[in-house]
Amino acid sequence: MPSFTDKVVLVTGASRGIGRAVALAFAHEGARVVLAARSAERLAQVEREIHALGAEVLAVPTDVTSPEAVAALVDAATDRFGGIDVLVNNAGIGKVGRIDSPTFPDDVRDTLRASLFGMIDVTRRALPVLRPDATVVNMSSVMGRKTFARFGSYAIVMHGVSAFSDSLRQELAGSGIRVSVIHPALTATDLLRDATPDELPPPFRYMTPLSAEDVARGVVDAVRRGKRRVVMPRRANSLLLGEALSPRIGDLIATALSKRPVARLLGLSGGQTYHQAIG
Ligand SMILES: NC(=O)c1ccc[n+]([C@@H]2O[C@H](COP(=O)([O-])OP(=O)(O)OC[C@H]3O[C@@H](n4cnc5c(N)ncnc54)[C@H](OP(=O)(O)O)[C@@H]3O)[C@@H](O)[C@H]2O)c1
Repeated sequence: MPSFTDKVVLVTGASRGIGRAVALAFAHEGARVVLAARSAERLAQVEREIHALGAEVLAVPTDVTSPEAVAALVDAATDRFGGIDVLVNNAGIGKVGRIDSPTFPDDVRDTLRASLFGMIDVTRRALPVLRPDATVVNMSSVMGRKTFARFGSYAIVMHGVSAFSDSLRQELAGSGIRVSVIHPALTATDLLRDATPDELPPPFRYMTPLSAEDVARGVVDAVRRGKRRVVMPRRANSLLLGEALSPRIGDLIATALSKRPVARLLGLSGGQTYHQAIG
């Protein structure tokens, strides 16, 4: 998809963080943007920002865990724009906590509902109205390929997102519709704001987060170049390669990342920490 002028891009979780940045990035490229998230007020604010760029925009307050709301979202996008060229499945939540913590089962259930079942429902509803050369972008995480301690509930779901994307891509092969799965490392958004620095997974302690805008650039580039999978930053591949060779090596790298000099050596630390970056 070389140009996004007048393409219709639907972004879930567009009220803040990565989703907002993705919506703005596509609007900058001349796309028409449909915004979905629960918070109507924040969504209206992003709608105003996109209007100010001179782009066409439609905000549809949506809880992706509600099948009725998801159906209404896809209908609203189709009524207004006739179809969808790029679907960015980005809405999601993340909880930090050990597997023996009292809230772990609920954390898994809540995250599955918002981040995976919501994605599946939006995708299945949108499939009939995707244009023939459309792209589905699914937001996973580096945690969708390698898990860190205290992040099990999130990583279980992100692995599910990776598997869903892999299956969808193969089922759509030959249809003209592409599937891109994005695996960002820690990003400076509100996702983990409720966790104190001590509660975060230890490898995050000294990690310098990506910005939401970094991830948005990666998403636009993935769609433009038809990339099946994007790991951000590229240096995070050292962790994934280690894990692919053996879980022992993957665990060694994960443990070593909680030491500042190692995180620096691997190029994953050097600026602000997560809590410094989100202020
Ligand atoms: N931050 C990271 O370190 C990181 C790294 C890799 C991947 N990711 C993934 O990136 C995606 C975006 O996260 P973020 O970092 O931008 O976090 P964020 O700032 O907390 O944004 C999450 C977005 O999802 C929306 N959302 C949550 N539950 C929803 C629901 N049930 N229905 C509709 N919208 C819902 C939120 O809006 P409302 O509250 O208004 O609904 C918000 O717009 C997530 O899927 C996350 O797993 C994040």
